[in-house]
Amino acid sequence: MSDDWWKSAVVYQVYPRSFQDSNGDGIGDLEGIRSRLDHLEWLGVDVIWLSPIYASPQADNGYDISDYQAIDPTFGDLEDFDALLTAAHARDMKVVMDLVVNHTSDEHPWFLESRASKRSPKRDWYWWRPPRDGFEPGAPGAEPTNWRAFFSGPAWAFDEESGEYYLHLFHQKQPDLNWENPEVRQAVYAMMNWWLDRGVDGFRMDVINLISKVLPLRDGEPLPGGLGNGFPLYACGPRNHEFLQEMHREVFAGRAGRFLTVGETPGATVDDAVLFTDPERAEVDMVFQFEHVDVDHGPLGKFDPQPLDLVRLKAILGRWQAALADRGWNSLYWDNHDQPRVVSRFGDDRDHWAASAKALAAVLHLMRGTPYIYQGEELGMTNAGLTSIDDYRDVESLNAYDELRELDVPEARILDGLAAMSRDNARTPVQWDGSAHGGFTTGTPWIAVTPNHTWLNAEAQREDPDSVSAFYRSLIELRHAEPVVAHGTFEMLLAEDPQVFAYRRVLDGTVLTVVANISGADVTAAVDVAHGGLVLHNLGEAATPYPAGAGEVPLGPWEARVYLHR
Ligand code: NOJ
Repeated sequence: MSDDWWKSAVVYQVYPRSFQDSNGDGIGDLEGIRSRLDHLEWLGVDVIWLSPIYASPQADNGYDISDYQAIDPTFGDLEDFDALLTAAHARDMKVVMDLVVNHTSDEHPWFLESRASKRSPKRDWYWWRPPRDGFEPGAPGAEPTNWRAFFSGPAWAFDEESGEYYLHLFHQKQPDLNWENPEVRQAVYAMMNWWLDRGVDGFRMDVINLISKVLPLRDGEPLPGGLGNGFPLYACGPRNHEFLQEMHREVFAGRAGRFLTVGETPGATVDDAVLFTDPERAEVDMVFQFEHVDVDHGPLGKFDPQPLDLVRLKAILGRWQAALADRGWNSLYWDNHDQPRVVSRFGDDRDHWAASAKALAAVLHLMRGTPYIYQGEELGMTNAGLTSIDDYRDVESLNAYDELRELDVPEARILDGLAAMSRDNARTPVQWDGSAHGGFTTGTPWIAVTPNHTWLNAEAQREDPDSVSAFYRSLIELRHAEPVVAHGTFEMLLAEDPQVFAYRRVLDGTVLTVVANISGADVTAAVDVAHGGLVLHNLGEAATPYPAGAGEVPLGPWEARVYLHR
């Protein structure tokens, strides 16, 4: 197997909580995943990325880990895990684990020991600091720095017992590990090695560009509401690359296997990404960048969504394509467990549901990079349509609601923002069939199944050659069959066109041209595809016949065409 096999691979993300429940407790589990491998094999994906399944108090749905080497009982046990791994491998699918090591749970024994006393040998495994000079311990403003946590409020929690604060960039039940301490790093590497010895095929590394903080810790620029922005002081910090190179040496370098590593890197620029992913530097294979999913954030942040500016979106994606053309590699994604559903966000889930889901899939999957499908995306699953704050489960959404209320933002506006952008949009159960709870559980699901599961479901699509999932399957097939998809050069076409997303890929005389209408209007794209054969098309029978004249492609609403020419 080539070292860079993942260039021609497609990764499928499973969010175990919401994938398939096997025991009726309303929460997905490992046995449930195993029972649905047929679907993934049919789709043709190469890799399964499992969101965290480790022991966890579930303050952030498993991204708060209390034991890295145990499975949370909600999901099963290690025996179930081994059975899943064996079954996936038997079908030629690899399994990549989520690695969450910027922080642990506050219930992890490392943190319990660290918290126990100022003299604990593990005290320095986390970021403990005394109150700010001149402030009463625990009083507002006494936090060691003014940083705002990602999930609202200060990024420091006060520990009465010792009179000190600990840092948590996310929830207060997610204390940040101190990567400056070599013992912490060695403990993480030992754990990673343990999983690789068990047979896993790589890691998706949660916020891995936040592990190195600028020292000494200090205040960030003030934000409205009194807290400060610490982000520049801990994102892509001074020792980030050094730590990843050390991890590579200690975990991957000596192994015969060929793994996939992808770092989640909010805020990373293209220049950062070249450094993270240049194979000669031996850090990670690819990163998840955020620029293209931040494109619609408004003045109040992510819960203040703005209409899509396609020219801007293409400029961002085109810049990433160009920057990683020769060195490094891109990951390609619209959806994941933190993002709303793309068909509702950038597509049209009312009037052109299937066509827009397929058009967005085509333009994403055929760029240069490794595509990621988030569970249900291949079905064209939509946003959840939640209307009351009581329907939400996600801690980020619930905290944002409180925070925006305090800033006097009208409730209706907040609820609109949540309905469009909440992470819960991605977290509703996979819609397997039209039965009660969509075939996800026989019990009561931990979060409601979206009502459109009656018609929008895997079973209904399975026999339909024009279904959204059949289209995803064809995209994956095309990648596997035509090396130009993985390895071709990339050239953006019509960069300034506000409706058309078009580009060309070239490899050894093979030319692949993608031209898609990202709008509900009829358009004509000035793209020359005269000599190419149509290899993929998203409208099936409804297609307008392609006229003979070269140089222009007429496209109906959300129509996407892919041409191949040798
Ligand atoms: C990024 C993960 O994708 C998100 O779900 C999580 O809440 C944070 N990191 C904290 O682990």
